[in-house]
Formats: sequence, C-alpha cells, structure tokens
Amino acid sequence: MFVFRGANAVLTGASRGIGPYLARRLAAEGVNLTLVARDRAALEKLASELTGIETRVVAVDLSDPASIAVIEAEALGPVDLLVNNAGVETFSHFERFPPEEIQRAVAVNLTTPMLLTRAFLPGMLERKRGYIVNMSSLAGVIGSAYTEVYNATKHGLVGFTRGLRSSLADSEVGATVLCPGFVSDVGMYVNMKAEAEKFAPKTVGTVTPQAVAEAMIRAIQNDEPDVLIAGGPPLRPILALQTLTPKLAEWIAKKLGTNDVMAPVADSRHK
Ligand SMILES: NC(=O)c1ccc[n+]([C@@H]2O[C@H](COP(=O)([O-])OP(=O)(O)OC[C@H]3O[C@@H](n4cnc5c(N)ncnc54)[C@H](OP(=O)(O)O)[C@@H]3O)[C@@H](O)[C@H]2O)c1
Repeated sequence: MFVFRGANAVLTGASRGIGPYLARRLAAEGVNLTLVARDRAALEKLASELTGIETRVVAVDLSDPASIAVIEAEALGPVDLLVNNAGVETFSHFERFPPEEIQRAVAVNLTTPMLLTRAFLPGMLERKRGYIVNMSSLAGVIGSAYTEVYNATKHGLVGFTRGLRSSLADSEVGATVLCPGFVSDVGMYVNMKAEAEKFAPKTVGTVTPQAVAEAMIRAIQNDEPDVLIAGGPPLRPILALQTLTPKLAEWIAKKLGTNDVMAPVADSRHK
C-alpha cells in the first residue's frame, strides 16, 4: 500500500478550484507538496497555509512543453506521487471553437499529464514506489453536448490510465483516474454557472471538493482503477446501458434534457 507520510507529490492545478482541497488533504496525510499552476501568488498563499510539510511552488504554463523540464528540475524529490489535476473546460459550439484553443486544451488536459508521467515514472519504477492520479471527469466516460474537446481529452485520460495500469500491473507503481461529476462551491462548474444565469443542470447532482479529495486518498490507498464521484442517480448502470445499447442511451439522454444543460454556456461564447 502507498505510504503517504513523507512522500513527495507534484500537484498541478493547485492555485484554485479543486486543487487547494487536494493539497490540504494530501498535507493532512503528511505528503510534501510541489504546487504547480500559473498563478504564483495563489500557490504561495496556499503553501503558506500548509504546515507540518515541505512545500515548493513552481509557476509554469502547462500548455508549454518546456514546463515539464522546469517541474522536473524544481520539484521536491524524489517524486513518489503525481497528481495531474490541472485542466481547462472548453464549453462552446465546436464549429466556432478557435483551433488554437483546441490545441491548448489538449496540451493542458492530456498531453502534459502524459509527459509528466513520462518524466516521473522511470524514477518511481526504479525505486519501486509511486502513484499517478489523473483527474478526468464524468465527461471522460460519457459524451456531453458542446464540450467535444473536453470530452476527448478526458476520455483520453481514462484510456491513458487504463493502459498504464495494464502495463504496471506487476510493478509497485499504481495509477488511478478520478471522474467527478459537477463539483460544488469552487471550480470550473461554479464559474460556468455564474457565466450563464439560466444554466441549471436538472439530471445530475453535485459533489463537494472535499469528497473529491477524499476519493483521491481512498483510490490511492486501495489502488482503484477508475473512480466515479458524483451525486445524483447511480452511474455504473447508466454507463453499462451506454455500452450495451449506445443508441438507447443517447435517446434517454436527449429525453432527460442532458444535452441542453450546457447550451446557455455554449451560446454565450465565441459568437
Ligand atoms: N469543477 C468541476 O465541476 C469538475 C468536474 C469534473 C472534473 N473536473 C476536473 O478537475 C480539475 C480541476 O478543475 P477545477 O474545477 O478546479 O478548475 P479551475 O477552478 O478552473 O482550476 C483549474 C486549475 O488548473 C490550472 N491551470 C489551468 N490552465 C493551466 C495552464 N495552462 N498552466 C498551468 N496551470 C493551469 C489553474 O491554475 P492557473 O490558472 O493559476 O494556471 C487552476 O489551478 C480539472 O482537470 C477539471 O477538468 C472539474
């Protein structure tokens, strides 16, 4: 089982949203933290709150491939735990979405997590100790309207983690992909709600950032593969239905109004 106390973790997306909750929860387990995002001031403020552990701040733009070498050079090491949490949402009508934003979102959400894994995995394998957590979303296991690029990157993280787990099955290194639904209180969903006043999901509940952080700790302790974290109806049967009869699942989603949930946000962007 992964030993938290004294481990060194790299946590991306630590400056705001869910990230600080993940940081505080890891700190409570005695994990030393390298906090990564662009907003240095926010990272330093968080670091100053975290007592009893070592912290380091690395302010980089994760859409830039050069950020990988900077993190490798500056992180508290050896790195035992990598939490690829940083992400950007892409709610828009796809036909209006700027091509350069597609590339940026793919870089931040998918390419960089793979490159960071590539950077730290050899050391983990050599030391026979390590864990990788990738932050996907329910959008990584279902298709949701007006968010194709986000869907693609989050499905990518699910596929990447599953492949990784298969390859690492006989090693001492584990990997988990977390798939939260809409998160309450902080983060991109809360920001979108503020952006589109009429936006009001009818079919899915929300989950707290504390619950996401708790699920991360449990997943690492139990070496869980993919973890769904959501309020609302039980999701595994819905996913099973999607696999068994994709067309029926699409029809039900349409009837439930799921496709309309994001429409006001998409309408308001890239006119
Ligand atoms: N909130 C939800 O409802 C929800 C649901 C499911 C999954 N998720 C996933 O959870 C993760 C965190 O989401 P959140 O809601 O906390 O989002 P958020 O509030 O928008 O925060 C995103 C984090 O990622 C960092 N980030 C974004 N672009 C970056 C870049 N180019 N370089 C470096 N850092 C970058 C941001 O830091 P800077 O701006 O300081 O760089 C920030 O710390 C994401 O992967 C998201 O897809 C969220």
